[in-house]
Amino acid sequence: MGFRKKERVQIKTPQQIELMRIAGKVVADTLQTLSVSVTPGITTRELDAIARECIYGAGATPSFLGYYGYPAVICTSINEEVVHGIPGDRVVNEGDLVSIDCGAIVDGWHGDAAISVIASTNPQPSIQKLSDVTQASLAAGIEAAVAGNRMGDIGSAIEAVIRRAGNYGIVEDYVGHGIGTEMHMYPPVPNYGHANQGLELKVGMVLALEPMVTIGSPEVLTLADDWTVVTTDGNWASHWEHTVAITESGPQILTSNTEM
Ligand code: MF3
Ligand code: CO
Repeated sequence: MGFRKKERVQIKTPQQIELMRIAGKVVADTLQTLSVSVTPGITTRELDAIARECIYGAGATPSFLGYYGYPAVICTSINEEVVHGIPGDRVVNEGDLVSIDCGAIVDGWHGDAAISVIASTNPQPSIQKLSDVTQASLAAGIEAAVAGNRMGDIGSAIEAVIRRAGNYGIVEDYVGHGIGTEMHMYPPVPNYGHANQGLELKVGMVLALEPMVTIGSPEVLTLADDWTVVTTDGNWASHWEHTVAITESGPQILTSNTEM
């Protein structure tokens, strides 16, 4: 999954961005359905089945299924799981923090997004804050996704929100990415960085921004299933992601199902 050097950023026309928006809407609709399905007692396999129906029902193809052998339609990462949790027998419990990552393809164009949902009507304030901080950092990164800015402006905007919020860790082993005719494309999009540094952002670039934030230490490891990434100290983590186009009129969230 490495990013090759000297690769060029795939630049999209406005028409191609509209096609990506169609894939993005399938992802957004699927995540919206899943967000209300995350209730105590449901298994992650049931969530995966819901996603499968939503995506195929919309005439789209799930991008994760079969990706490097990945066996499911979504990733479900609960509590200390950060990303790439595989749906299965695990039951969602009251108060769990469930991060759901979803990708779909329409006419060869990809959308990729993730949300974090707390399975409770009365969430733990510290867990709600973890998710809110992560979501706010994503929003700040999106605001910085403007032509003429540099990649470091996105990373530093994300990082600033998280650092200001308290004792949180920014996972560095995984980053956002370019997206278009493939899910993972050049360039990498780190969730940290220095303003004014790195690749210049241009109209027509489409990036998946995806901060992964932990309570405390950002150190992670991969479980023996070769997919599930967990925090080393067992503290909980949140993940939020959007696919974002850099346009003449500023950043546009493609994985959205509301008019902008
Ligand atoms: N969508 C994830 C990301 O945000 C990658 C999922 S890997 C898969 O980049 F194998 F699960 F598909
Ligand atoms: Co992604």
